[in-house]
Amino acid sequence: MAGEGKDGKRISGYGLGDISTVMSVEDVQKEAEKIASESPKVGYLEDLAGDTFLSIDTLRAGYGRMEILHGFSLRVAKGQSLCLIGPNGAGKSTVLHSIFGFTNIMGGTISVGGKDITKLSANEKLRDAGIAYILQDNSVFPQMTVEENLWMGGFLKGRPVEAREAAEKVFDKYSRLAERRKQPANVLSGGERRLLEISRALVMNPEVLLVDEPSIGLEPRFIDMVFEILDDLQRVEGKTIIMVEQNAKKGLEFADIGYVLVSGQLAKAGKGDDLLADPEVGRLFLGG
Ligand SMILES: Nc1ncnc2c1ncn2[C@@H]1O[C@H](COP(=O)(O)OP(=O)(O)O)[C@@H](O)[C@H]1O
Ligand SMILES: [Mg+2]
Repeated sequence: MAGEGKDGKRISGYGLGDISTVMSVEDVQKEAEKIASESPKVGYLEDLAGDTFLSIDTLRAGYGRMEILHGFSLRVAKGQSLCLIGPNGAGKSTVLHSIFGFTNIMGGTISVGGKDITKLSANEKLRDAGIAYILQDNSVFPQMTVEENLWMGGFLKGRPVEAREAAEKVFDKYSRLAERRKQPANVLSGGERRLLEISRALVMNPEVLLVDEPSIGLEPRFIDMVFEILDDLQRVEGKTIIMVEQNAKKGLEFADIGYVLVSGQLAKAGKGDDLLADPEVGRLFLGG
């Protein structure tokens, strides 16, 4: 088998597969584990990020006594976006949960802007560290109107006036939401509801945004709108975004940096564009 070259990366040993080959879930898992045996070093992650703002170091975390992440590290700069991809069950959501304070942390540290936030509670994360988690199951309040749902984003931070101003900006931009601002959120379609959830981040005005599978279950036109809002959040508002995306192609096209997570460990990291062009990533995660 060829291709153990860590940075040369042209793996040819898998050979016979062509784009019509359908790999089983087990095969993807097995091959992905092989890649994970050469985990990127922290120095490389630092170079990739440039100027680190949020960092995770050798994190061991999970649920109850079960350890899901086994020494995971991450670096992202302010205003940068990073997308986690990888097989189902790899621990991608667990990374976001850990940053936000939903997991049991058994070792390692998480810091933002040089401040250790490993032990802050989820409530403190938003208030003190400016971290927001969106798409945490279904976070829309169905009986409240669309505008009240947006304002909620500000109440969470105790800034109702700023929240109303930010909500008006959202309505100026997204007529689809503006038309329904006085209606209860439960009249929204699935796609509109997702827009509402994501645009609430504009109102919450956090430093760091954790976004779990923003495109899941959406029709293409809504997927584009969701990525448009994320783009606004990053490029106009200067937010730092860490996201998980099952649609690896969309996620890597969007993000500055991509990480491939396998079995609770970092298998590969690179610029989004470089991972998109990486044949191994293509074969395992981009469907061909
Ligand atoms: N709340 C939870 N309690 C216990 N185990 C969980 C919980 N959430 C996820 N897990 C387990 O953690 C592992 C990683 O899950 P997850 O981070 O959701 O993976 P991914 O997002 O990559 O699909 C899986 O084995 C999953 O069953
Ligand atoms: Mg997940």
